[in-house]
Amino acid sequence: MAKTKIAIIGCGGISNCHIAGYKALSDICEVVACCDIDAVKLANYAKVNNIPATYTDYNEMLAKEQIDAVSVCTWNAEHKNATIAALNAGCNVLCEKPMAMNEAEAIEMQKTAEKNGKLLQIGFVRRFGNDADILKKFIDAGDLGDIYYAKATYLRRNGCPGGWFGDKEYSGGGPLIDLGVHVIDLVRYLTGCPKPISVYGVTYDNLGPARAGGAKGWVSTSLNKEFKYTVEDMASAMIKFDNGMTLLVEASFNLNLKNDTGNIELFGTKAGARIDPNIEFFGVQNDMLVDIRPAGNTALDFNGLFEREIRGFVTAARGESECRAKAEDGVMLMKIIDAIYKSAATGHEAIIEY
Ligand SMILES: NC(=O)c1ccc[n+]([C@@H]2O[C@H](COP(=O)([O-])OP(=O)(O)OC[C@H]3O[C@@H](n4cnc5c(N)ncnc54)[C@H](O)[C@@H]3O)[C@@H](O)[C@H]2O)c1
Repeated sequence: MAKTKIAIIGCGGISNCHIAGYKALSDICEVVACCDIDAVKLANYAKVNNIPATYTDYNEMLAKEQIDAVSVCTWNAEHKNATIAALNAGCNVLCEKPMAMNEAEAIEMQKTAEKNGKLLQIGFVRRFGNDADILKKFIDAGDLGDIYYAKATYLRRNGCPGGWFGDKEYSGGGPLIDLGVHVIDLVRYLTGCPKPISVYGVTYDNLGPARAGGAKGWVSTSLNKEFKYTVEDMASAMIKFDNGMTLLVEASFNLNLKNDTGNIELFGTKAGARIDPNIEFFGVQNDMLVDIRPAGNTALDFNGLFEREIRGFVTAARGESECRAKAEDGVMLMKIIDAIYKSAATGHEAIIEY
């Protein structure tokens, strides 16, 4: 089978993770073109990564180049248009998370993929983590019993990536849509992808602009453009699923807490489990409460994480593997995000319609 020809749309921070993944697969794919509206960033990216063709307009790139698969790595507001253009040009697409600005956009993208018979994978990279693989094995073997309650936190004390991440017109929202999607999706993935039925959510924007851009971790590479700061500082929500499970989620860019935290807790009828960052199990054996910690390092290893995601995408696009993060999962997440923002705005529970 010929090498899969790849193009990248959006040559900012996360595209570096994507290109590393494609380079690691040079036996089955090659990056033939890239596109960014920032001509300087584009030229530098193409030079550093040895990409032969560059474009500032993805429609022109899709019309002129022979491309099999595309990574969409733009800011969120452009995910829908870039993805739909690529799908309509006959390409398979890996679209970064969040899938879109809202559910309506996500459904349009899913329908376009179906109409064209193309793969649309969503960048839920945590599904490819070593920690997710380990925990899922225990869950699928029934070791936790029925999981009926879960908690997921992704809290940063001072961690807005700056630029468009703080501007709702470009991002669709703040830490909920940026960080919350990762952990909500991970809990759904681990627990067999139940359907959300209702949410109660709150958002706060008490700290906002004073701290925008203070992030020490992930920082947008698009800081030279003027962006507003219009997103929430933090969000919290209770999400109910059709299998009876409830998930309590918390996400923040800015919050007066001591340390940044990110963990997942699952509570089942036989045992509980926690990723924080190593995996631990809590249960009962021989009438004793026991805490069980698998030997070795079970914490998420970022080395090779995106490579595993990209391998999953390329092999699925080639028909050699099953896609692990489908468009339908992206749509489910956008349903949840929309419902949380709606509930926060109205002060009432939001019912998720199908
Ligand atoms: N999976 C993860 O863990 C993870 C981590 C960080 C970011 N992301 C996601 O990746 C995406 C990009 O984030 P980033 O940090 O790389 O942002 P960034 O600001 O560093 O880069 C975004 C790039 O998109 C380009 N762009 C915007 N509109 C375009 C268009 N119409 N055509 C071509 N290029 C266009 C910008 O010029 C910029 O270079 C976001 O959706 C973000 O949520 C995912």
